[in-house]
Amino acid sequence: MGFLFLNHSIISIESARIGVRDLSLLRGYGIFDYLRTHQGKPLFLTEYLQRFYSSAEKMGLKIPLNISEIPSIIEELLQRNKFEESGIRLVLTGGESNDAFHPGTPNFYILVEPFHHPSQSDYEHGIKVLSKEYGRFMPEIKTTNYLPVVYFRDELKEQNAVDVLYHQGGQVTELSRCNLFYVKNGIVLTNEVGILKGVTRKKVIEIIEKHFPLEITSFTLKDLYEADEVFLTSTTKKVMPITQIDQQKISSGEVGKISRELYEMFWKLCDAHVDQLTTVR
Ligand SMILES: Cc1ncc(COP(=O)(O)O)c(C=O)c1O
Repeated sequence: MGFLFLNHSIISIESARIGVRDLSLLRGYGIFDYLRTHQGKPLFLTEYLQRFYSSAEKMGLKIPLNISEIPSIIEELLQRNKFEESGIRLVLTGGESNDAFHPGTPNFYILVEPFHHPSQSDYEHGIKVLSKEYGRFMPEIKTTNYLPVVYFRDELKEQNAVDVLYHQGGQVTELSRCNLFYVKNGIVLTNEVGILKGVTRKKVIEIIEKHFPLEITSFTLKDLYEADEVFLTSTTKKVMPITQIDQQKISSGEVGKISRELYEMFWKLCDAHVDQLTTVR
């Protein structure tokens, strides 16, 4: 039996209930955040909680708990669910709405799920992604609306692709659940407008700043097609090479040296981060 935290207490997942008039169901009005454990400990918890609270504020929704109360709840959920590695999902809904328009009192829950790393073969060979014209509404907020990627799930499978890459008139923003980087002539480039500011992105930028020239800019699909390397960052995929976009192979179609090095450096950073945590803060 699995356990989650719902509003005020930890209960079994089977007994958890949310009203059918919740604005998240009726209008897709809700936010969430997602982090993982590394060696069994929540990784970069402070950063994820800050983003979650900031998303709530920007959406005009109130989380019923103080930010300082969350870490001990997560610790208890990890102990009770007992997965080797976990994904931790914090969700805040629009709440039960009388008129199907105005938010009610939000429902807040924390789910702990088993976490599975992407396959080793994806890191060795890189992944394929499909470009789609789309722009997220208020992209800096982590809303629960992932409509396009769920809609394109069959096409992704048929094309042996892993994710959709969003652009507007060729101007690239991000992938459905990941941030984008590319390498051209030894310089690493990434964007900052029209995206969710990923926690992984932030950590990888800090690493890049110490080891490679970095440019924060805007870029197009054409820039990516002509890049030496393309890679994404996300909580689940960490630093994942992209070796094909649509029918276009990136450079030789092989995983690039800088993508590989950054993956290793990021993994070491995760090790170092959890080593200095004695208990969950
Ligand atoms: C739209 C979007 N962009 C980027 C990311 C990557 O962010 P993070 O590194 O914090 O997982 C996510 C994560 O789910 C996302 O949903």
